[in-house]
Amino acid sequence: MATVLYPGSFDPVHLGHLDVVEQALELFGEVIVTAMHNPSKPSGWFSLDERLAILDEAVAPLRGEGRTVRVASFGGLAVDAARSLGADFIVKGLRTGGDFEVEQQMAQTNYVAAAVRTVYLPCNPALVYLSSRFIREIAQYGGDVSAMVPPSVLPHLQRATREA
Ligand code: PNS
Repeated sequence: MATVLYPGSFDPVHLGHLDVVEQALELFGEVIVTAMHNPSKPSGWFSLDERLAILDEAVAPLRGEGRTVRVASFGGLAVDAARSLGADFIVKGLRTGGDFEVEQQMAQTNYVAAAVRTVYLPCNPALVYLSSRFIREIAQYGGDVSAMVPPSVLPHLQRATREA
């Protein structure tokens, strides 16, 4: 069974991300959810180390009954993360046509650069509106994001809001 890398900013991880992890677990033997830098999103909230710790708590309920989910963080290229963590290929969730435009270009670039294949998973239609950026914005102004993130993420958002 294949091992797949699910890379993303995860700043923070939300329910749409966990849906992609669950889909990947149905299809593949092992999923490595990997927090990475997105150079086009320099102004996030959480450090790579914090995102890794938050991810680890968030995916914990998905583990067990033969389901293997690892978490990692990686400071370089997704293709190097795939190689160094032992993943056979990359998985990405697609919410909208806009996601497809961006992901297709990255997937083709990653294949030409390093022969690493990417598989797309369609996001649950009930969750396609979710975005870490909007979750941060709502949390920043004290709004309720409890329907958008796993419960374990809420205290981290509250702490980050207090410290901002
Ligand atoms: O959650 P995001 O922000 O959509 O994730 C994008 C991410 C982090 C997966 C992407 O920016 C990425 O792969 N970053 C690592 C650097 C890299 O591999 N760049 C080459 C892209 S072709």
